[in-house]
Amino acid sequence: MAKKETKPTSSDSHRVATSGDIEVSTYLEIAKEMGGEQPVAAREAISGVEPETIIVLDFGSQYSMLIARRVRECQVYCEILPHDAPREKIASLNPKGFILSGGPASVYESGAPLAPSYIYESHLPVLGICYGMQAITKQLGGRVTPGTKHEYGHAVLHLDESDSPLFTNVDPSSPVWMSHSDKIEEMPPGFTALAHTENSPIALMGNKAGIFGLQFHPEVAHTPQGKTFLENFVYRICGCQGNWTMSNFINESIDRIKGQVGKGKVITALSGGVDSAVVATLIHRAVGDQLTCIFVNHGMLRREEVERTFNTFRLNLGMNIIFVDAGERFIRRLKRIIDPEKKRKIIGGEFIRVFEEKAKKIGKVDFLAQGTLYPDVIESASSGSKASAKIKTHHNVGGLPAKMKLNLLEPLRSLFKDEVRQVGLELGIPEEMVWRQPFPGPGLAIRIIGEVTKEKLEILRNADWIVMNEIKKAKLYRQLWQSFAILTDVKSVGVMGDYRTYSYLVAVRAVNSEDAMTADWSRLPYDLLNRISNRIVNEVEGVNRVVYDITSKPPSTIEWE
Ligand code: XMP
Repeated sequence: MAKKETKPTSSDSHRVATSGDIEVSTYLEIAKEMGGEQPVAAREAISGVEPETIIVLDFGSQYSMLIARRVRECQVYCEILPHDAPREKIASLNPKGFILSGGPASVYESGAPLAPSYIYESHLPVLGICYGMQAITKQLGGRVTPGTKHEYGHAVLHLDESDSPLFTNVDPSSPVWMSHSDKIEEMPPGFTALAHTENSPIALMGNKAGIFGLQFHPEVAHTPQGKTFLENFVYRICGCQGNWTMSNFINESIDRIKGQVGKGKVITALSGGVDSAVVATLIHRAVGDQLTCIFVNHGMLRREEVERTFNTFRLNLGMNIIFVDAGERFIRRLKRIIDPEKKRKIIGGEFIRVFEEKAKKIGKVDFLAQGTLYPDVIESASSGSKASAKIKTHHNVGGLPAKMKLNLLEPLRSLFKDEVRQVGLELGIPEEMVWRQPFPGPGLAIRIIGEVTKEKLEILRNADWIVMNEIKKAKLYRQLWQSFAILTDVKSVGVMGDYRTYSYLVAVRAVNSEDAMTADWSRLPYDLLNRISNRIVNEVEGVNRVVYDITSKPPSTIEWE
């Protein structure tokens, strides 16, 4: 398929507020504050090239981000907006089509959310998924009722018509994933039923104007041909060309960063994580030595992390980096602290102080770059309306000194994590770094239960090294979301040779997850667990027992603190 050039052209820099001293908030919160109401990567036409955007209108589905990711996997740019986004906002993105997400409400209840009438008046194609289909039905004159049969989980979809462009390359019968209890009693005028399942006579409906409703979820992995439906929608119904590629993104970003930065100076925090690595490399490509990276070693990193970062960025990529060894300072501040939230806040606050001290020494700096990703932007955009309990204070190492009067550069604001990884690979960052599992900003401090001491850090580093190496040897590192060791503050009795031991208990955690919002413990092979356990008790002094964490999230969290 021919690819056209397009340009994501949101201005992604703006003035940082100067609000006096930072009350250690977290980096993410500061980032959100600073991100404010900034528009999300709106794309404009450049030099006659038409931008392509599919808009997901979100009705509160847990899958909205997944829908957007799937559309982007089809190389079509996709943004998520609240279902009641103002008309001007929607129109400003110049959409090629709309997807209405699922959601927890029932359309026949009073006050149930509906799509803005603008999307129907626009005559652009619309795809309603689950609740989205029911919203279309209600808004265009059909009827939805509470179903007598709930349909959750697997079902088989049978196509009743073969010539719809939505069905190109779709099998006549295929498994789909359902999650609904309401049903379409009567379709709106002009619609026909195009497919059914055993319990849903109208599992898929459509009209001649390119408006479709799907009772099943095409975005989830349990619908194996779901991606084909979405591809058909964006290419054959909406007429997209597919110009959202990471090499286009890189070229456009470099041009944009050059234009924004001019002759100015940029600083950024490097952490060894993927996001900060990609931000730094992209900006370095654009403005070279005008960028200075600051790497703060807070002493809570994994074994060899500092050396690896040094080798990659200074030796291989030739970047300007200031390495700050601040481990002692952090350990002192953490003395006798056992409360997880206090640990997080101390580390977050200290990190900002160290970063600022170093940044001041660079002289005049104009821009601060950071690795904000699209999910952060979406979450901060919706967090104002959601009352949610604070579970943990997140501290991102790519964090921000809010006092500094700097313009903000956030070149990854429109990307999902998997896109960031692709960009990283295309920029030549080593695979090992690009595929590094997520590592929390406060580092090993929140994997040591109780007080953090140098001795405990050493024990945990050694145990963690074994877990990582064994997981890598078993070729499971990439497919696991995270795998690591935790040093508990429990000691228990053991026997080694003829001697009694009284040593620490180490826990091993390995989880599968799509986005860290939910996670399941990984069913690691017993012999792998056996090797990990044997090696830890034999090779790590101070440990005589190993347990494996078999709880999912929820009700647990991934990190122990
Ligand atoms: P939890 O423990 O809340 O973690 O299930 C979800 C994901 O977030 C990571 N995590 C952090 N990442 N700063 C970060 O940058 C933090 O303070 C932080 N705390 C947790 C965690 O590793 C998991 O991937």
